[in-house]
Amino acid sequence: MQGPIDLGDLSGLADGQLRAYPEVGAHGIVVCRVAGELHAVEDNCSHREARLSEGRLRGTLLTCPLHGAQFDVRTGAHQGPPAAVPIAHFDVVEAGGSASVTLDGPAEPRG
Ligand code: FES
Repeated sequence: MQGPIDLGDLSGLADGQLRAYPEVGAHGIVVCRVAGELHAVEDNCSHREARLSEGRLRGTLLTCPLHGAQFDVRTGAHQGPPAAVPIAHFDVVEAGGSASVTLDGPAEPRG
């Protein structure tokens, strides 16, 4: 268990936007704003090594820039091939003009 880790003021992050934090966690995280809520997932595709923050966020789905795997940023769940497993999802709390994340998911590097 690690955290909470300060993410700064994300009030300017609009719906459909994302921000990468490469220094947080084993692979970095990407924070996404969806329907007003902040969600954080591991910034590394579960198919191969690729930064999901360089992909596309549409609705709740983050699409990998390499081969197109999609993940639900609310849970980290994968939506089918080529990804075979989910990515880690982390809880984000936003209050008083700042956001923080707690890394209590499976943030260990995958073998
Ligand atoms: S590396 Fe993400 S789909 Fe292949």
